[in-house]
Amino acid sequence: MNSIIIKTALVLLVLTAPACASKISNEAASAKYLDESRNTALEFRKKLGGVQKEQLESVGAENAIPVCKVIAPAMAADYSKDGRELKRVSLKARNKVLGTPDAWEKQVLESFDQAQREGKPADNMEASTVSKDADGRWFRYMKAIPTQPQCLQCHGKPADISAGMKALLAKEYPDDKATGYSVGEIRGAISIKRKLDVVSK
Ligand code: HEC
Repeated sequence: MNSIIIKTALVLLVLTAPACASKISNEAASAKYLDESRNTALEFRKKLGGVQKEQLESVGAENAIPVCKVIAPAMAADYSKDGRELKRVSLKARNKVLGTPDAWEKQVLESFDQAQREGKPADNMEASTVSKDADGRWFRYMKAIPTQPQCLQCHGKPADISAGMKALLAKEYPDDKATGYSVGEIRGAISIKRKLDVVSK
């Protein structure tokens, strides 16, 4: 009797072991990636903000367009390495090719906006999940990008944006949706993706 129980227990152990192992490693990986993604997002936000500020002060807003157009996507590409993908997304994207959110990103951005409208500070907002696609599981992370005073000359209300800038934006981004923001509102988010395990068929 006892030996049957032991055998059954052993069989169960053997049967469940691989699933457990992958679950534990996914959880461990997710905890590690959460920490890493949080640091990466903060670093990216700070670094881009610094370069932007420097450019605005030295060459002025209209000449700083390349920072957002060239340097920001290049910086995002630079951070997309070692299995990590980093991009900036927004519910009202200026660059719809690079900045349009997918379903999860859209949902998170909407929840950030809702929380911001309820008075929560945008600065600390973040979200993470593990999602399952046809090609496997992904760890996903997002960190809000709040609108600051320095953003308004390119993302603010019509009165904040110079005629020259309006003309430049209309030429470069005919579908531009990224204006009308006030300080404190959420301009978008940094979105980070990392592959976890591969789904077995
Ligand atoms: C000099 C003008 C300028 C300033 C100042 C500026 N931006 Fe932008 N921003 C742009 C342009 C141009 C793009 C489109 C970049 C591209 O083509 O990928 C952009 C794109 C973005 C995007 C990517 C999503 C999208 O809409 O395409 C985010 C997020 C963003 N800006 C946030 C900010 C924040 C936050 C600030 C202030 C800290 C800021 N920007 C200041 C011009 C500016």
